[in-house]
Formats: sequence, C-alpha cells, structure tokens
Amino acid sequence: MNYENILTRIEGKVGVVQFNRPKALNALSPELMDETMTALEAFDADPAIGCLLVTGSDRAFAAGADIKAMATAGVVEMMADTFISHWDRFKNIRKPVVAAVSGYALGGGLEFAMACDMMIASETARFGQPEIKLGVIPGAGGTQRLTKAVGKALAMEIVLNDRMLTAEEAATFGLINHVYPVEVYLAEAIKFANQIAERAPLAAQLAKEAVNASFEMPLSASIAYERRLFHLLFGTQDQKEGMAAFVEKRAAEWKGK
Ligand code: CAA
Repeated sequence: MNYENILTRIEGKVGVVQFNRPKALNALSPELMDETMTALEAFDADPAIGCLLVTGSDRAFAAGADIKAMATAGVVEMMADTFISHWDRFKNIRKPVVAAVSGYALGGGLEFAMACDMMIASETARFGQPEIKLGVIPGAGGTQRLTKAVGKALAMEIVLNDRMLTAEEAATFGLINHVYPVEVYLAEAIKFANQIAERAPLAAQLAKEAVNASFEMPLSASIAYERRLFHLLFGTQDQKEGMAAFVEKRAAEWKGK
C-alpha cells in the first residue's frame, strides 16, 4: 500500500505504524486515521506479526484530532461523520498494540494512545486533553479511559483545566508502562513489543481480550468470561506444547494453533 499520512515497516515480529504529518504535529485527520486502521488491520491479519506498534515523531505523537478539518463542521456532519468513525475499527484489532509516545500526546493523540494496550514514553512526552480550550470535550474516549486510568480527581483536572502530565507523572499515575530518554524510547518500545510478539499468539490475543473485558463488564461476569477463555486455550496445540515444554525443561515452540 502507498500511504500519504503514515509510514509502515516491520521490525522483527512487530508491525510498526508511524504517523507522518510532521507539519501538523501528526494531527489525526480522517485520512490519517483511515490509513492507520488499514495498516493495523493488515498487520493484524499477517501471521508473521505478533505485536503492533504505533508511534509518531520525537516532537509529537499526535497533537489531537485535526482541528482544521472539523472547525466548520455542524452537528449533522459530525454525526454522519468520517471524523471519528474510523476510530471504531480499532476495537477489532486482536493482537496487542503498543504505543511509543514522545512529545505531545494531546486530545485525540492521548485518546489514541490510551486505546492501545500499553504505552512506552520518552522523557519529553506530555499528556493532556485540552479540548476545553476549543469549546468542546474529548470525543474519542478521553473522559472514560483517562478516568479509569488515573482516577476521577486527576481526570477532572486534566479535562476541565488543561492540566498536562509529564512522562514521569504519567508513569506514577499508572497511565503508561515505562519511560526512557528520547534517544532510546523507540528502540526500547520495539524491543518490548518484540518480547510480546514472541509469546504464545493465541494466549496473547485472549489475554488482551480478558484484560479489556474488565472495563466492559461487572466483575462476576468478567471473571466467568476469563474462565471460559482459559478453558478455550486447552483446545490449542500451543497449550499442549507450552505445558510439555515446561515438564521437559525446554523452550516452547509456538505454532499459533
Ligand atoms: N489539528 C490541526 N493542526 C494542528 C493541530 C491539531 N490538533 N495541532 C497542531 N497543529 C498545527 C498547527 O496549526 C501548526 O500549523 P501551521 O504551521 O500551519 O500554523 C502546526 O501544527 C504546528 O503547531 P504550532 O505552531 O501550534 O506548534 P507549537 O509548538 O507552538 O504548539 C501545541 C504545539 C501546544 C501542540 C499546539 O499546536 C496546540 O495546542 N495544538 C492543538 C492541541 C489540541 O487542542 N488538541 C485537541 C484537538 S481536538 C480533539 O482531539 C477532539 C477529540 O477528542 C477527538
């Protein structure tokens, strides 16, 4: 595929998507979101890929949804929209997704990073939901995912009063996994994603599904769901291989079957 707003590459077993609108600080235009989802869907369907990684530039992961693209839109256009509808495709990605974030992760940029499964950041990363300054609120999950990640008091401050978190604060509040110097954060994120890509593929997909179910269901239902996913893995060759390898004191060889 020839993309205009993103770059793609494969690093080991990791499919990398890089936002590439440097002049607009990677603002997430409908075209960029369409291309991003198309690339992620292709990597998700590729059996040689075990984990996906989304990144931006050192200066900006993404400075939000594209303000210029939606500035004059009315409510009917927004509801009919291509502005946010591409985002819905993300929930169908089955493989784990790591976000490698540096510089600005604002508005839709932070919302996209939070929709990923894990986040690695550079020390220069800044996380915020500044939509209030535009007379709107987050519209791609920000108020919900941020509140679940950092709690109500801090989420209110970020959404209502344009509080921006440093990478160190984001790590302290549990929003992100690891922080590295800007020179190495991307290499570290790719290494991290490749470790995940080496895991038993079907178990990794169901592990992601089970953790995400905790955000959707009451506890008793999500525990019952987890149990069924656990049972399901006993129908795979990888479960037999993983347990036989443990007993035989050797490394397991995963087939994804
Ligand atoms: N949409 C469109 N263009 C954007 C953009 C955005 N979200 N963010 C930055 N840009 C553009 C700027 O307009 C500018 O373009 P020009 O050179 O053509 O003027 C270029 O990127 C560089 O930006 P700045 O000159 O502003 O750079 P800076 O270093 O002075 O400031 C910044 C950086 C603080 C990130 C500032 O650009 C900014 O505040 N951006 C907007 C952040 C924002 O409000 N995000 C929320 C968007 S709404 C949203 O995301 C809704 C949702 O929930 C789905």
